Amino acid sequence: MRVAVFRKAHFNAAHRLHIKDWSDEKNAEVFGVCSNKYYHGHNYELDVKVTGEVDPVTGMVIDLKDLKDLIEEKIEKRFDHKNLNEEVEEFKDMNPTAENICFVIWNILREHLEDRLDLKVRLYETPRNYVEYPA
Ligand code: NI
Repeated sequence: MRVAVFRKAHFNAAHRLHIKDWSDEKNAEVFGVCSNKYYHGHNYELDVKVTGEVDPVTGMVIDLKDLKDLIEEKIEKRFDHKNLNEEVEEFKDMNPTAENICFVIWNILREHLEDRLDLKVRLYETPRNYVEYPA
């Protein structure tokens, strides 16, 4: 029996949408207020979905305590109250859009989950704007 288990998480972070190779004018034209050089913040909400076979003995797909700890350790500690552009290595040369942040989070978590488990990550930048990877 395959079951999906979910864990919600949260972090606050600042960012700006900005392509280093572009002029300030072009960045402003494409990203508007999101390219403000003094940054802006979001209350990011994260939904992590792990799907797999239920272990017949434990009755669990994954220990939710382990998933909680993994997200805290690898995502929240690295992203919460950070300036994503300046303080998170992955975004030194990658625009920290919701799409890219979601992809980075998926990659980090994927590395720490057993191969038998499927992973999907949904990231809310606002209650109305959210992205999901894999699509
Ligand atoms: Ni933004």
